[in-house]
This record gives sequence, C-alpha cells and structure tokens, in this order.
Amino acid sequence: MDRFVRNFIVMSIVYLVMAAFFGVIMLANPSYLYLRFIHSHLNMLGWVSMMIYGVGYHILPRFAGKRLKSVKLGEVQFYLANIGLLGMLLFYTMQMNMPEAALYRGLSVAFGLMEVLSIVLFFYNMLATLFSKEE
Ligand code: HEM
Ligand code: HEM
Repeated sequence: MDRFVRNFIVMSIVYLVMAAFFGVIMLANPSYLYLRFIHSHLNMLGWVSMMIYGVGYHILPRFAGKRLKSVKLGEVQFYLANIGLLGMLLFYTMQMNMPEAALYRGLSVAFGLMEVLSIVLFFYNMLATLFSKEE
C-alpha cells in the first residue's frame, strides 16, 4: 500500500472521531449548533471522502488491471485535501461569527478552492488511470 493511501485512511478515521465529538457537543447543547458546518464537513469531506480516496486509489487501478497514473499527484492531493478542509472549517466558522470580516471570507474561499483543486486532481488521476492504454 502506498504511503499516501495509508495516510488518507488514517486521517479519514481521525476525522470521524473528531466529527463524532462535535456531533455530541451539539446534542448536549443546541447553542453549539454553529458547529454543524464543521461536523458535517469533517464527516463528508474528511471521513467519507478520504476513506473513498484511500480505498479508491488502492483498489480501482487493480480492478482495472492498470498502474496508477501518478503517485506524486496522489501525494499532492493528500496535502491539498487536508489543508483545504481544515482551513475552510476554521475560516468559515470565524466568518459566520464575524460576517463583516472580509479577511475570513477571502480565506474560506481560498481554502475551499484548495479543496476543489484536490477533488479535480483525484478526478484526473483516476480517469487517466482507468482510461490509460497501458495494462
Ligand atoms: C456520534 C455520531 C454523530 C452525532 C452525535 C451527530 C450529531 C449531529 C447533530 C446534533 C447534527 C445537527 C442537527 C441539526 O442541525 O439540528 C448533525 C448534523 C449532520 N450530521 Fe451528524 N452526527 C453523528 C454522526 C454523523 C455521521 C457519521 C455523518 C456522516 C457520515 C453525519 C453527517 C451529518 C450531516 C451531513 C449533518 C448536517 C445535516 C443538515 O444540516 O441537514 N453525522 N449531526
Ligand atoms: C469544496 C468542497 C465544499 C465546500 C467549499 C462546501 C461548502 C459548504 C457551505 C459554504 C455550506 C453552507 C453552510 C451553512 O449553511 O452555513 C455547505 C453545506 C453543506 N454541505 Fe458542503 N461544501 C463542500 C463539499 C461538500 C461535500 C463533498 C458534501 C457531501 C458529500 C457536502 C455536504 C454539505 C451538507 C450536507 C451541507 C448542509 C449542512 C451544513 O450546513 O453543514 N459539502 N457546504
């Protein structure tokens, strides 16, 4: 198993644990419901997406009988996905609490775009692998 694949799987489980804590905090006291964005995206972009990236990078090329197009791009995607996620959680939550602060808005957009770029890299790497001519 490639190191970045294992890293995706480890971080996915770390995010599940974090998201579960945020979920229980919201159950305990509805005044913490502003944490919902953090909880839902730790779950969806952290736990669910990163488990799919990890398992997908490992298994889909093997199912198709191909070699992964680029391990390097996979490693870059790992860092972009994690930094993008943590940045957008932090700055979007700050922006919600201070809607007039243009700095937080700009930073949440920047980290959100980093997350989008990581998704585009997965899209490219996976399709380039599955449609490559090499067996
Ligand atoms: C310990 C486990 C969990 C707890 C205690 C928990 C708790 C909560 C709470 C309190 C909310 C806010 C509901 C509201 O707005 O009134 C919420 C929202 C949400 N949770 Fe969880 N949750 C858990 C696990 C999960 C898991 C495993 C996922 C996905 C894989 C998930 C996905 C979501 C999503 C997407 C929302 C936003 C839903 C919406 O706004 O319509 N949660 N959760
Ligand atoms: C680049 C990636 C993403 C960005 C920038 C993003 C951004 C956002 C924003 C700004 C909201 C509104 C939050 C609010 O009401 O204050 C939202 C809500 C939501 N997003 Fe995402 N999202 C992304 C990816 C995803 C993915 C991949 C999923 C599911 C697979 C998802 C599921 C949801 C859900 C269920 C809600 C409503 C619950 C909530 O308010 O947290 N998002 N997202």
